[in-house]
Amino acid sequence: MSKERVCIIGSGNWGSAVGKIVAENVLKNSDIFEREVRQWVFEEEFNGEKLTDVINRERENPKYLPGIKFTDNIKAMPSLVEASRGASVLIFVLPHQFVRGVCNEMKDHIAPNAKAISLIKGLEIKPEGVTLFSEEISRQLGINVAALSGANIADEVALERFCETTIGSRSNEDGELFFKLFNTSYFHVNVIRDYVGVELCGALKNVVAVGAGISDGLGYGSNTKAAIIRLGLMEMRKFGQTFFGTVEDTTFFESCGVADLITTCSGGRNRKVAEAFAKTGKPIDVLERQMLNGQKLQGTLTAQEVHQFLEARQMTKDFPLFDTVYRIIYENAPLESIVRDI
Ligand code: NAD
Ligand code: 13P
Repeated sequence: MSKERVCIIGSGNWGSAVGKIVAENVLKNSDIFEREVRQWVFEEEFNGEKLTDVINRERENPKYLPGIKFTDNIKAMPSLVEASRGASVLIFVLPHQFVRGVCNEMKDHIAPNAKAISLIKGLEIKPEGVTLFSEEISRQLGINVAALSGANIADEVALERFCETTIGSRSNEDGELFFKLFNTSYFHVNVIRDYVGVELCGALKNVVAVGAGISDGLGYGSNTKAAIIRLGLMEMRKFGQTFFGTVEDTTFFESCGVADLITTCSGGRNRKVAEAFAKTGKPIDVLERQMLNGQKLQGTLTAQEVHQFLEARQMTKDFPLFDTVYRIIYENAPLESIVRDI
């Protein structure tokens, strides 16, 4: 049987941390996986050089994950077609605003037996409906797609600090394969079937993190933030159960659920930028550029997408925390409404 050829689509902060894990694990499972892991890098200049050249020479991504070395079996490639050619395992890990078009470009080049996993924390929300990225990728490529999400701040994972993560997979066989690709002594994977719940948690917690950041910016303290986390968790569950009947309560007790909410609302980028928004009043896109060095926020965009979706159903009032976060960021609602209106 031929070995699995792995391609990582994305090379930001999390894409790089995951690249390190995956490249190490294919070496440990050389009976299953080909040695080389190809990584598609959205090409850009870094200190006057191509970022892909720097990554391949330095064995490090100094723009998005400085100071962390990769094993020599990861190859950064600027062409999506070349990176995905013949790939049988696809790992999607890019900010959700950039997913459109990617599948179309690679669909004629992947292996016929390919399977994929989405690490994207975001939803494809259009006024007419919500689509999970795993489902959208599955539809466009005609393959099975699992989801991975958890309390996983990339910089900490890259430093090999212990954490857990959740993989949601409909197929047991794919679940076992992805376990081998991602699990390490410091990155504990639990595989469950509720891929919908895994992905919904990963997307919606970013909206809650923006609320937590606003509260921090106002100096409201730990009790208020805990209340925002609790109410956020309830709205996440309500959203899942209202629009995706299959979401299971137990999923919220996995790393992708309550654990990710806690970590994102303390150490995440969405929280940090929202705190600065509350303190300075500067626009979010300006703060994103100033504070994140090319990394991307997902929570404010997801708040807007969720709002459009709920508004189309006249249901914004049923999700007061999501609604309040949206109104503060996009409609100049007073910052204090983060406690007054939820
Ligand atoms: P990031 O926030 O570091 O974003 C930067 C990436 O976006 C770079 O690879 C850049 O090349 C790419 N990019 C910029 N413009 C682009 C374009 N026009 N087209 C395609 N790519 C473009 O990315 P990340 O941290 O790797 O996040 C990827 C996903 O993983 C997100 O959904 C995020 O929520 C999720 N995630 C992130 C973390 C984390 O701690 N960083 C942890 C878990 C999950
Ligand atoms: P941020 O994008 O807010 O940094 O969250 C990272 C994350 O998803 C941690 O699990």
